[in-house]
Amino acid sequence: MPNIALITGASAGIGREFARYHAEKGGDMIITARRGDALDELKAEIEAKHSVSVTTIALDLGAADGADKLYEAVKGQRIDILINNAGFGGHGRFVDRDLADDHAMIDLNIDALVTLCHRIGKDMVAQGSGKILNVSSTAAYMAGPLQATYFATKAFVSSFSQALDEEMREHGVTVTALEPGYVETEFSAVANLENTALTSGGGATARSAAKYGYDAMRRGELRAINDPKLRFILNWVFPWMPNRMKLKQMRKMQEKTG
Ligand SMILES: NC(=O)c1ccc[n+]([C@@H]2O[C@H](COP(=O)([O-])OP(=O)(O)OC[C@H]3O[C@@H](n4cnc5c(N)ncnc54)[C@H](OP(=O)(O)O)[C@@H]3O)[C@@H](O)[C@H]2O)c1
Repeated sequence: MPNIALITGASAGIGREFARYHAEKGGDMIITARRGDALDELKAEIEAKHSVSVTTIALDLGAADGADKLYEAVKGQRIDILINNAGFGGHGRFVDRDLADDHAMIDLNIDALVTLCHRIGKDMVAQGSGKILNVSSTAAYMAGPLQATYFATKAFVSSFSQALDEEMREHGVTVTALEPGYVETEFSAVANLENTALTSGGGATARSAAKYGYDAMRRGELRAINDPKLRFILNWVFPWMPNRMKLKQMRKMQEKTG
């Protein structure tokens, strides 16, 4: 059975673990991110351990034509699995942040993901099969003071993914949103979230989050929260809490403690 994956943001964190786990499943893959050296290292590591082939494409997916360039580079090749994982966050009061950083976040977290879902989703529908895994976040379930744009991008990703699943499922294509809680990766340093309650309690490993999401994608689940406690709270407690209370709580979690 063909088993070829395209994985974005594979140079680090959860994306790198998706690549390793997909290799364990015997799948070939195309991995992409900006850091070509890290991609080459991962390719060497995976190809030494498994009988699979890894192609690397180093590019900036957040650039205006980044997602189209990536599609041009893979066009014509069969893709069975698309994992839209590349993304980043950013801490701070919205009006104090550099607006360009928030636009760059939207370009990567939303625009590139939408373009790849469209281009590769269309090919998957034509081939009558495919699996898409969009990496969202538990942030999709709430507004996030001090990370307002990031939380909103993930609400978009979860909403968009569910609608696509409903449209494409009858054509053999499923779309899953992975919604992790805090995961220990480079994410917190990139987003300047160190010394916040959100990150100080520790989080899941990238391996466990990737494995949970990948398996859920294989099963064609709609939404997948890797942490059982968060899954319960977000589905059964959060919907009943007053909005202002949730906003205050989220703000507190993201305030710097030191
Ligand atoms: N860590 C968490 O707590 C957490 C929780 C929920 C959801 N998530 C989501 O999980 C996904 C992966 O995050 P992570 O935790 O693994 O973070 P990470 O360790 O910072 O990895 C992010 C990946 O995205 C790539 N990337 C960033 N900007 C890019 C760009 N402009 N063009 C191409 N690739 C780019 C990075 O590669 P280069 O720097 O080499 O380009 C890297 O491979 C993200 O969508 C994030 O929002 C993370």
